[in-house]
This record gives sequence, C-alpha cells and structure tokens, in this order.
Amino acid sequence: MPSPGSSRDLPAAVLAGLGTCLPTTEIDNAALVSRLDTTDEWIRTRTGIAARRQATPETSMRDLACQAGANALRSAGLETVGGVVLATTTPDRPCPAAAPEVAHRLGLGQVPAFDISAVCSGFVYAAAVAASLITSGVVDSVLVVASEIYSRIINPMDRGTAVIFGDGAGAVVLRRGTAAEQGALLAFDLGGDGSGHDLIHVPGELEQPGDPRWFSMAGRRVYLRAVEQMALSTSRVLKDCGWDPETVGALVPHQANGRIIQAVAERLGIPPQNAVCEIARVGNTSAASIPLALATSLATGRPAPGARTVLSAFGGGLSWGSVALTWPQLQAVHSEF
Ligand code: COA
Repeated sequence: MPSPGSSRDLPAAVLAGLGTCLPTTEIDNAALVSRLDTTDEWIRTRTGIAARRQATPETSMRDLACQAGANALRSAGLETVGGVVLATTTPDRPCPAAAPEVAHRLGLGQVPAFDISAVCSGFVYAAAVAASLITSGVVDSVLVVASEIYSRIINPMDRGTAVIFGDGAGAVVLRRGTAAEQGALLAFDLGGDGSGHDLIHVPGELEQPGDPRWFSMAGRRVYLRAVEQMALSTSRVLKDCGWDPETVGALVPHQANGRIIQAVAERLGIPPQNAVCEIARVGNTSAASIPLALATSLATGRPAPGARTVLSAFGGGLSWGSVALTWPQLQAVHSEF
C-alpha cells in the first residue's frame, strides 16, 4: 500500500476511455502502384505499410472526430466531460476551431473547446494540455480528439508522400484520478525546433501564389530527426519516472514508418517486441496514429494493465513529445464512417 502523501496519491489525469473511427474505403498498395512510379515491395520494405484508409469527399474531419469522440465517451461509460481538445493538421476550414462544434454535436454543452496544431505530435501535445487542465483543477475530465484527412492535402501523384499517409481519427477520455491508478499519465516531455519548419509543410499563399498547396516532406531528413528526437524525448520521461528501458511493456510511437519505430526502440534498449507497430493497414495517420495504435494493441490484450508505457511522437514544426503512463484497463470502441 502506498504511504499517505506518497507520489502515488498525487492527482493525475487517467486514461479512462478510447475510441477510434476509420473511413471505410481502403487503398491498398496495388492501387497506388497503378498510378505512381513505385512498387508494393518498396512501400512494404521502406515503410511497413500495406494499405491506408481514405475519406469520401463528403466526409469532414469533424465527422471523423465526432465518431471517434462518441466512441471514446462510450468506452469510458460517460455522457459528458469538462472540455474538448482537438488535434488536427487538416482542419475543414481555417476558422473557427473544430472542437466547439464537435462538443456541440456530441451534446456536451457549453464546455471549453479548442484545437491544437502540432502536426504528427498533435495527440501528445493535446494530451499534455488536457492533463494540465485536469491536474490544475480547471476541469475534471477532457475529451482529447485527434482527427486527420491527409488525403485533402497530399498530392496524389507524389510517391514520396502518397504511399505513407492515411485518414482516420482517435480519441481518449482523460479524467481526474491518482498516479496509482492504471492508465495514469505520469510524466510529459514536449519540445520543438522551428529551424526545421520547412522540412514538413504545406506552402501558404504568400510562398507560392497561385500554385497548388500540397503537403511536402523532406523524407530522409525527417526520418533521421524523428528517430533522434523520439528517442531523446522518450528517454527524458523514462528518467522522470525512474524506469529502465528494458522494463517498458509498451512503447507506442507515432506510426510514421515501421523502420523509425524499430530504430527508436533499438536506440533506447526497449525490447523490440514491445514497440507497437500497427502501421500496416492504416498507414501514417499523423496526430491520430497513437490512439489508433493504442486501440489495436488494447484489442490484443497485451501488455497487461498497469504495464509501463510510453507514447512518443515527432512531427512538423518541428515538434515532438512523449507521455509516460501505465497501461489502462479499458475496452476501445471502434466504428467506420
Ligand atoms: N517508391 C519508390 N521509390 C521511392 C518512393 C516510392 N514510393 N519514394 C521515394 N523513392 C525513392 C527516392 O526518390 C530515392 O530515389 P533516388 O535514390 O534515386 O533519389 C530513393 O527512393 C530513396 O529515397 P529516400 O527518401 O532516401 O528513402 P527513405 O529510405 O528515407 O524512405 C521515406 C523514404 C519517406 C519512406 C522515409 O524517409 C520516411 O519514412 N521519412 C519520414 C516520414 C515521416 O515520418 N513523416 C511524418 C512526419 S513525422
């Protein structure tokens, strides 16, 4: 039993529900090979991806966000929460933020709701902000949603990006609890480096007047920075918790590329079989990739509730971040749209 006043009694945000939503249309590698100068073998061996999902033109990022959010609330057994934080790189419109409408459509009332723009690190940033709102006493619970429709910003003829990215959404409910509970978020690390702002970007009107504004990525340079920063960031939260890398039961990294995931685990000395890689069927879904990977992993029943877990992400900005938590005991709810 923890002694009174020990760190295990400290207030913490606890992961209490998880929901996901994927578009029904699957684009396999064969469909891309027919229009791009690429091969199924190149895509599988260089990225680990076999297929990705694509939203219909009628589907909005908010539609996916609402479905994932409703599923997370059902998973948590809650009908209401104290706020909504939504991470996306692909807003349906520049203004206003999507989160207030998502809160409204979910029947959550007049709760605080806002968006976060941190590209592939969006979910980790949103979870850290939501956890701060909870532990500082502003609200008791937050719905954290990550929703992306990259097919709206990817050039379908760019083999460097079209093979990697997919559409999807994931959401978690965080509620106020203690550090001793399964699913408690225990340590955070966030960082950024604007000197790399153009390594991942969508050009704006002022940069390329009149040109199509497609997502652009310096793949190889991003790859190297992603491995470096996710490993460093993960090691910082491990240090904060006093956890040896070999004792980590689940590393759930941003699902950027299967090789990046293995390289991060190797660099840290985390058992490679404990690095969760669920990229094969959904590709890189940017901010949504961590909750989607968490859900797939939860369905397998491994690791056991309470296991030492780290979520780690890297993305445009540049931005990165990690969260250490214990593996939650819950059932994810999934739907397709
Ligand atoms: N099919 C076939 N060849 C391809 C290709 C494709 N789909 N995409 C790129 N290539 C080619 C390149 O043109 C290059 O050819 P060249 O040597 O003749 O110039 C060659 O493959 C190697 O390119 P490179 O970019 O060095 O390959 P890579 O091993 O780094 O893999 C990525 C490319 C994009 C898969 C990899 O860099 C990556 O995953 N980067 C990070 C992506 C990411 O995480 N993005 C999200 C933000 S965190």
